Amino acid sequence: MAAPWFEDEIAQSLAPLLPGLRVEVVAEIDSTNSELMRRSRDGETAPVLLVAERQTAGRGRLGRPWQSAQDAGEPPSLTFSLGLSLAPRDWSGLSLAVGASVAQSLDPSRSAGVALKWPNDLWVQERKLGGILIETALLQPDALERYLVIGIGINIGPREAAGMSTPPAWLKEWRPAATPGEVLREIVGPLVHDVQLFNERGFVPFAARFAERDLLRGRDVRLSDGTEGHCEGVGWGGELLVRTATGVKTISSAEVSVRPVRMPP
Ligand code: BTN
Repeated sequence: MAAPWFEDEIAQSLAPLLPGLRVEVVAEIDSTNSELMRRSRDGETAPVLLVAERQTAGRGRLGRPWQSAQDAGEPPSLTFSLGLSLAPRDWSGLSLAVGASVAQSLDPSRSAGVALKWPNDLWVQERKLGGILIETALLQPDALERYLVIGIGINIGPREAAGMSTPPAWLKEWRPAATPGEVLREIVGPLVHDVQLFNERGFVPFAARFAERDLLRGRDVRLSDGTEGHCEGVGWGGELLVRTATGVKTISSAEVSVRPVRMPP
């Protein structure tokens, strides 16, 4: 392995929160999300943190590919998935809660300007720093509990902009000495804590945390279905609120993408 990943330290510190959590680091895999979803279909649903130094077929939202940064030496991206069973009363807003958790860990004082673009992209200075892909599998028909896979990709080192609709940002721009392992260690404890908070109380405790980093609130936006309007933030279930000529439109579908109409000067 090219970099220290602090597997034992992470496993030990999370054991009280997630008994039996296994931490696995692999040099290469198609996609950490695909792997945990495959395992869940084979009945493997114990809590696991799977980290890949390289993904050959990383996936993003809306069927898009997720490409890691390319660099020789240490892995220039942090790519991992957390798999665990969860049974919240309402799943709405989970991806926003995860985004709020990760943004807070990456930029606790908000000095770096890490923002959240609905539903769960991490942006810095109008560029994309990372993304989150959440997938679930039913454990039993009609059961409330599901197996949840939270996949997170963060650019640590420089990343080429060629072929990307949104130019990338990377963490070393403001933390030149950061390593993927250190960033993982910082993110994952608060993430597990926040996922468990969501399990008990839903999106409500995260609404203010999301709002203070909401990239779209107060801006004119265009949705992938052609709707244009003014973003009024998110509701108590994490739905996007867009004021249009015909009233406030509520968007909760993860199948819709949204962009600011123009960047601020
Ligand atoms: C997005 O920006 O649309 C979401 C990107 C999510 C990427 C992460 S990397 C780890 C995990 N494995 C994947 O294949 N995707 C997620």
